[in-house]
Amino acid sequence: MFTARDRLKLLLGGAAFSVSACGGGSSSPVRPTPPPVVVTPPTPAPVIFVPTEGQLRDKFVNQFQVGGAIQVGQLTAPEGTLLGAQFNSITAEFEMKPDIMGPSEGVYNWVEADALLAFAEDNGLQLRGHALLWHRSTPDWMLTGTPAQVKVKLQTYITEVVTRYRGKIYAWDVVNEVITDDGSLGDAYRRSNWWTASGGNADYIDWAFEAARAADPDCKLYINDYGTEFSGKLGRLLDVVRDLQARDIPLDGIGHQMHINVGTSAQQVFDAVDAVDTEFMGLEQHITELDISVYSDPASCFSDQTGCQSDYGTTIPDTVFTNQAQLYRAIFDGLATRSSVNSVTLWGISDAATWLNEYPVSRTNAPLLWDRDRNAKSALQAILDSSFTP
Ligand code: G3I
Repeated sequence: MFTARDRLKLLLGGAAFSVSACGGGSSSPVRPTPPPVVVTPPTPAPVIFVPTEGQLRDKFVNQFQVGGAIQVGQLTAPEGTLLGAQFNSITAEFEMKPDIMGPSEGVYNWVEADALLAFAEDNGLQLRGHALLWHRSTPDWMLTGTPAQVKVKLQTYITEVVTRYRGKIYAWDVVNEVITDDGSLGDAYRRSNWWTASGGNADYIDWAFEAARAADPDCKLYINDYGTEFSGKLGRLLDVVRDLQARDIPLDGIGHQMHINVGTSAQQVFDAVDAVDTEFMGLEQHITELDISVYSDPASCFSDQTGCQSDYGTTIPDTVFTNQAQLYRAIFDGLATRSSVNSVTLWGISDAATWLNEYPVSRTNAPLLWDRDRNAKSALQAILDSSFTP
């Protein structure tokens, strides 16, 4: 019996019901087919790649040491943990330069350097010395007086420092960034405070290497510079190396800083290394400060902070990270085939703590292998896993 109540339910419940249902017929009401319920599967959480303990240093253990730049204040931070877990060499980002270690004549500050050495020894890492001389980190006391007086002060400082860490620091950047960026000077030397203090010449470079060799004959002595991925700067560096070699000035290796960007080609890196191998067989080579900026800026951005690429903020395109990962993979794979390269150091550990967040302008950069949350990036996965497609 189809009651009024039924009819009411019917009417209330579903205007969609057919007329026959409303006609009170004896058949049960025809129910419309409910629309298919589409169940959207939850978006799978991105699988975060987590390298196994030591995976980065182990992968290249037969080719080169893998280093990271660190500050004392980061040793107990996530960066220090990652450094101990994945690297086998460390470099002081700034605390082993003369402005920190030699605050005034005859006064030495060993605190930060000793802390970095202790961390290295506790974690089985090598400590790479950076840097005995750099025009940007030179306290005034070193530069005052006659060239002869400056020579004595420089050699005294280097003797004290290198002697203290003899047998503990396996390599020193003896001189950093002494090559000019100006190709019009007629020679290769930066006209720095050291050029002036030395009497308008580059004698200070000899003084530095000779003092370092005398203090620790077993330490590997490096000349270190940026921009060797460009042929002009590279050529000027090779001119200086050629001169040092010709005069038997102690030198064991060339450091290529390689502060590059996603617009750099891996071949540019290899060309620099191969040029040294071609002419200076027997010299070692280190990549000393590798990072890959996500910005490709014009020269004006570095000279006067104009024309710089706009800040990506927190929305760095995936295509940029893909390019970065592919470039990191290519560089590590290519360097692993070049036997003169026995160290590759990243200039920092995570994107949370990179100098490039402030240079050449303040903006969000992401040049390293771990992100701001200290999660491994596709760049690290690309280096470690040849089957991974960035
Ligand atoms: O940590 C202190 C902080 O406590 C203090 O409040 C602040 C202001 O005084 O200074 C902080 O230390 C600064 C440090 O960076 C950490 O941010 C130093 O002043 C500053 O001089 C130091 O700059 C370093 C710079 O060399 C000069 O030593 C950068 O970190 C470091 O990335 C940079 O590294 C150079 C290489 O040695 C040579 N190649 C180029 C490369 C980049 O410029």
